Amino acid sequence: MNQPQHAVPWWQSGVIYHLYVRSFKDSDGDGNGDLAGILQQLDYLSETLKVDALWLSPVYPSGGIDAGYDVTDHTNLDPLFGDLSLFDRLLAEVHRRALRVILDFIPNHTSDRHPWFLASRSSREHPKRDWYVWADAQEDGSAPNNWLSHWGGSAWEWDAHTRQYYLHTFHKAQPDLNWRCQALKEAMFAVVSFWLDRGMDGLRIDSAHYILKDPALRDNPPNLYPELTAYKPLGEYDSQLHLYDRDHADTHGIYRDLRRLLDEYERLDPHHPRLMLGEVSLFDWSQWVTYYGAALDELHMPFNFGLLGAIRTAREVRQVVDAVESILPAGAWPCYVLGNHDESRIASRVGEARARIAMMLLLTLRGTPVVYYGDEIGMHDVHIPASRIQDPWELRVPGQGFGRDPERTPMQWDKSTHAGFCQANALPWLPLAEDAKECNVASQLADASSMLTLTRSLIHLRHSSTALTVGSYSSFSQVPEGCLVYERSGPHERWLIALNFTNEEQFIRLAEGSHGYLVLSTHLDRQGAVDLSVLSLRANEGCLIVMEIQDQRVHLS
Ligand code: GLC
Ligand code: MG
Repeated sequence: MNQPQHAVPWWQSGVIYHLYVRSFKDSDGDGNGDLAGILQQLDYLSETLKVDALWLSPVYPSGGIDAGYDVTDHTNLDPLFGDLSLFDRLLAEVHRRALRVILDFIPNHTSDRHPWFLASRSSREHPKRDWYVWADAQEDGSAPNNWLSHWGGSAWEWDAHTRQYYLHTFHKAQPDLNWRCQALKEAMFAVVSFWLDRGMDGLRIDSAHYILKDPALRDNPPNLYPELTAYKPLGEYDSQLHLYDRDHADTHGIYRDLRRLLDEYERLDPHHPRLMLGEVSLFDWSQWVTYYGAALDELHMPFNFGLLGAIRTAREVRQVVDAVESILPAGAWPCYVLGNHDESRIASRVGEARARIAMMLLLTLRGTPVVYYGDEIGMHDVHIPASRIQDPWELRVPGQGFGRDPERTPMQWDKSTHAGFCQANALPWLPLAEDAKECNVASQLADASSMLTLTRSLIHLRHSSTALTVGSYSSFSQVPEGCLVYERSGPHERWLIALNFTNEEQFIRLAEGSHGYLVLSTHLDRQGAVDLSVLSLRANEGCLIVMEIQDQRVHLS
């Protein structure tokens, strides 16, 4: 097998680990994960898992309303997590191990306690008034238009002092910034420069497609077919078509400028390519793909969230991946996820057996895989008693399944108290899973058939093969319902990935009279030559098969 080509930037050849800082590892006994905790676990990340980059959830001082997504100071660290000198130490240590750090960047809003907003709301004449989106009431005093907050209710909040409404796409404690204001744009670009100067390797741009809205503030039309526009119900927010409150055409100009800033850093230091990865939760791929930029001059990668819903069936996964593959312009690179801090855990959504198939899929697709912390050991959603709920969405719309705490619980390291996440006498900020004594890193490291062993093997194989990292992708149509089969090929080798999403054995007829070599099964119990005339897959089994080399290609229909 060949080493991945060096011309490929790290963010294409690597695996990104989505690290939820508050839940990863607590070093100081306050029950909250922190940067020193990450430092303690770097061996796990770089030696055991061998991921290539860490995306850290927000680490800045915040208003404490939305898990750090309500920033009060963009160029500092929340004391809960550490300080700037500790951040520098972490970054140096991460770089020493050839890992990278991606920071969350939150351009759509700040906290209502951010000094910028305090200034903005102090008077209509304040020079920072225009840094946020303010509008007059309608004649009857009602909100300027019908726009809705993501989490229910109007997206407008009345400010009695200056007698105008401000816009908040999310919580009312998260006022939206006005990117049409040049001074604001410059201030936010300076924030990015601050972290780039410190050596940060990339940005994960939060709510990337929300930052600019219709300047005429037109009403959104009603949404007659909510099931077509999102992959899961979002409640009241689904009652409108979001034509005017997000994804404005002018957004692209902002990302072109931001990309120029990153490219300039890369030009000055070509050995340090910087990444712009964006949260673009649009499910119309023709709309989604525009965030790469017409000349591939915007985001390096918008996340593709298609698998979140599609993972239910082989047919839906194939539809999503094939659609994404066919719409991507040459040179554009995909990026997939199975879950994140906003979604129910994959193991809870599809069950343990299917979660293994999902992991094999994620780590063998053409596109950068982003693995959510804990999914490598098959962590489940954790039930959160009412008294311990933290998530503002759940608190605002209780009992309807919007809460995001269940997927944000502490990492399960070993079988000690609190699963080794924090000291025994500390109170973890969210409860630990009940099965943490059995489901944890230490026990799975010792178990040759564990989810962790599977994840590590997949990452190892991906790294060792050019075909699996940057090779082409094509899927097969002549396979039984419930199965997904695709090929990844590079200049020297071809891999076949065959996934059985059903609870029954399946027989896949691929190529009469030819053989492949089965390198890895999701069941972790077989290896060896396989007959491709009829490949049999057990219930919920996925197989990674290496095919004949270039000159002896077998024909697959
Ligand atoms: C993004 C984040 C989510 C947050 C929201 C508002 O969707 O992923 O966690 O609540 O933006 O910042
Ligand atoms: Mg701590």
